[in-house]
Amino acid sequence: MTSLTLTLPDDWHIHLRDEEALPTTVTDIARWAGRAIVMPNLKDPVRTVADALAYRQRILAARPAESCFEPLMTLYLTDSTTVESVAEAAQSPFVQGIKLYPAGATTNSAAGVTALKALYPVIEAMEKHDLPLLIHGEVTDADCDIFDREKAFIDTALIPLTAEFPALSVVFEHITTRDAVQFVEAGSDRIAATVTAHHLLYNRNDLFVGGIKPHLFCLPVLKRDQHQLALRRAVTSGHPRFFLGTDSAPHTRQDKESSCGCAGCYTAHAALELYAEVFDEEHSLDQLERFASFNGPDFYQLPRNSGTVTLEKVSQEVPADLPLGSQRLIPLRAGERVQWTLMRSI
Ligand code: NCD
Ligand code: ZN
Repeated sequence: MTSLTLTLPDDWHIHLRDEEALPTTVTDIARWAGRAIVMPNLKDPVRTVADALAYRQRILAARPAESCFEPLMTLYLTDSTTVESVAEAAQSPFVQGIKLYPAGATTNSAAGVTALKALYPVIEAMEKHDLPLLIHGEVTDADCDIFDREKAFIDTALIPLTAEFPALSVVFEHITTRDAVQFVEAGSDRIAATVTAHHLLYNRNDLFVGGIKPHLFCLPVLKRDQHQLALRRAVTSGHPRFFLGTDSAPHTRQDKESSCGCAGCYTAHAALELYAEVFDEEHSLDQLERFASFNGPDFYQLPRNSGTVTLEKVSQEVPADLPLGSQRLIPLRAGERVQWTLMRSI
């Protein structure tokens, strides 16, 4: 197949950042996605509906002319989130969920949750109001190996949580392991997962063999190839509860290429094309639309988009770097080629 037309996709997990980053991040996502779930981990987190509405306006102001891109907002769960704020969020047409970061798990997670059980009344309110809980699923125990943190989170936090709140909608974000795939497959129809392009394309060898590649360092960290293969099988299987979430997360070149480099891969510039490479390699291009354009809105109970995008199997070169305000960012595949190109978006 050399040409593929899909219903306009959505991105169910993205970091757009703020202020001078928005022209780059919003332009890149608006090129190929109708909507995106915008993560709330700004330096000063998006804690309230008022914060989310103000942030939404800043994103809308950065949209290219004539773009219909719709940001779908999330709130940041903290130890002091209240039941009342859940009710308020559930009533807002602009807020689609609340994001749980275990404190210390990733970029800008210092304000995250320190004791999940203490928040069970808040989670109960989310279940009651049918407001999805979006989860960064890694434990933060210093004595847990970084490659085991997702599995440990499933065992110690997710299994008890989903047993306690069986009607709660849960999106297990950016899953990286076979264990997470199995957890979702065995779960109820209220449990889904997003999968990034980079976790489908790469494994931990790509991160370390031949020298450390800071631009492939993200959290949860890339795992071994068996896990990558399990993710590839899951997304191409036609299963309705795996959907596209890029976790595109820009950082400046300086912050990544440092003695203590920060976590995040930037893929929004070519994400759909990168996913197409994976589905092509798996001889499953016929499953891409389901993953990119149907499963997400069906799970979030939103309408599917009405436009289309067309991809062609024509390779393109990714620029060596991109602007991020006054600084530069290194996108995934910088200076290399991607095998597909987005031709047209309607
Ligand atoms: C994300 C970021 O930079 O905000 N980083 C990452 O490695 N994925 C945060 C996150 O989603 O964990
Ligand atoms: Zn993320």
